Amino acid sequence: MKIIFYLFCLAVIFSACNKKQGSAIRDDSLSVIPEPLNITLNPGYYSIRNTSTVYWTGEDSESVARYLIARLEPAMGFSLSVQQGAGRGINLKILDTEDESLGIEGYRLIVTPRNIEVTANKANGIFYGIQTLLQKLPAEIKSSSIQKDVEWKIRSAEIVDIPRFKWRGLMLDVSRHFFTKEEVKEYIDQLAEYKMNIFHWHLTDDQGWRIEIKSLPKLTEIGAWRVRRVGQWWTRTPGQEGEPAEYGGFYTHEDIREIVGYAKERFVEIVPEIDVPGHALPAIVAYPEISCTQTVTEINVGNLFYGIDENTLCAGNDLTFEYLDRIFTEVAMLFPSEYIHIGGDEVYKGFWQKCPKCQARMKEEGLNDTYELQSYFIRRVEKMLETKNRRLIGWDEILEGGLAPNATVMSWRGMKGGIEAAKAGHNVIMTPNNHTYLDLYQGEPSVEPDTYSMCRLTDSYNFEPVPDGINEKLILGGQGNLWTESVPHFRHAEYMTWPRGWALAEVLWTPRELKDWVHFVKKTEGHFIRADFAGINYARSMYNAIITPFSDEDSNMLIKLDTEIKDLDLYYTFDNTDPDLYSDKYKDVLSVPKDATWLKVITYRDDDPAGKMITLSIEELQKRIIPGRN
Ligand code: ACM
Ligand code: ZN
Repeated sequence: MKIIFYLFCLAVIFSACNKKQGSAIRDDSLSVIPEPLNITLNPGYYSIRNTSTVYWTGEDSESVARYLIARLEPAMGFSLSVQQGAGRGINLKILDTEDESLGIEGYRLIVTPRNIEVTANKANGIFYGIQTLLQKLPAEIKSSSIQKDVEWKIRSAEIVDIPRFKWRGLMLDVSRHFFTKEEVKEYIDQLAEYKMNIFHWHLTDDQGWRIEIKSLPKLTEIGAWRVRRVGQWWTRTPGQEGEPAEYGGFYTHEDIREIVGYAKERFVEIVPEIDVPGHALPAIVAYPEISCTQTVTEINVGNLFYGIDENTLCAGNDLTFEYLDRIFTEVAMLFPSEYIHIGGDEVYKGFWQKCPKCQARMKEEGLNDTYELQSYFIRRVEKMLETKNRRLIGWDEILEGGLAPNATVMSWRGMKGGIEAAKAGHNVIMTPNNHTYLDLYQGEPSVEPDTYSMCRLTDSYNFEPVPDGINEKLILGGQGNLWTESVPHFRHAEYMTWPRGWALAEVLWTPRELKDWVHFVKKTEGHFIRADFAGINYARSMYNAIITPFSDEDSNMLIKLDTEIKDLDLYYTFDNTDPDLYSDKYKDVLSVPKDATWLKVITYRDDDPAGKMITLSIEELQKRIIPGRN
């Protein structure tokens, strides 16, 4: 009896170890996101020890070497020495003779049991080679505390890697909710690890002005603060008489310089956005003289106001442009990026229609309607930016009424704005909302934090930035956009960003032909473990069931169950009990038993629950039927 018990214990321990080491999930040598262009795995490993040295040659690679050791030290518990030159160890080498095929961001990484060599034309490439190297190390490397008993082994390999697009970004909206300087740096850190190189910083919107403008101090003295509210966006109670406007914050010039420098060390360019002429409510609360009606007195807290309260700058008043010139002068001084994003989206034109100054401007300039007035506004801002050697980017509404001559268009209402702009020879950044909006639901809404619409991980992964028939050269790339109406804190920003941000990183870096959803899911599971070690939040929504009710010809409801990941099983009940492995397993479309009130569904992988339990009333399912869809 004892020996049987002993053998049983051994079997349990063995299977637990196997799970932890789980083949595909823990095979760190294969889990690089974004997928490199070319990998050859070879036998053997290089082991990093406390005697290992990081050698560097060429401009800017010393700082990359120091970045590497700072990334290794917390988990390894020792600091590697850094030396200029070459030797046995980890070599970071800028090529003396340029290899044209690698461009600015490409790299070659060779790992053998004796050496590691990262070569590139520029330090950008060395930095990306290092990201690949770090991802090939065991997941424990992401921990901020010393990990004992881990062998820091890297599988021998030869990798050649070059990005598909030059614009690979994430946008963070810091207006709807404020994120601290440290949080912004952390976000930049996280995106850079996935070889993204653009941080689009949405600095102003109706719920807060977040950038100090020294020549217009009220923008932040007044515009950065609103009344504190929680609860569902658009249903909040506006500030009441005497309530303090205490929620918010802003970045000083010093903060911005620090963040720009931090991003530069990670080869990330920060593209600032000042959203005008719409979405500018804090600016007109702070300086009513640049609005049409001078009636708005409160920064919006997340109550519905669009078309009721003004949030648009007056296009007929020269003072507006004088103030904008002051703003963009300081923005250009702080941000070295060649681009400044001026928003231009969702401009409510109702107040322009009634404003004598706006009407006079239209007459004077021969503008036929308020779309042309919007175009006038954007063109004038473009000229203003050109005097500061900056190029204008705007959301796709800037096409309306005529596109400014040198503008780059960021297409968000699908791809059509981008297509129109590219056909007219303009540069385009593709950010179609159905693929790249990170504020949307990423799975079954009833088990997700409240938001609207849907963008699953598969939607992000299936994003193809270059439409058929469009010159690829005009598509600079794409980015994920995290609007933060329903993102009240940084942990939730992480939840909304990952893993969809990983999918976008792969879309924007890896050649289209090398994308592989099944492999990506496996890698994603490995990166969940890495994120756990790093204390980074992420969504496991890809494990949840997809429940689609539809009507048959006789108007009876039928229900289709599905999963994003193909190796999951679905179990369900209609009897108000919680389904498990012993419940009915989904095989084919379900019809609803008479008098059923609830459908409950859960996914399993092998014998373990994978997704969340989903409970939907039959009434709710009826409401979800889309007429004509089955
Ligand atoms: C946008 O989502 N309004 C650009
Ligand atoms: Zn006006």
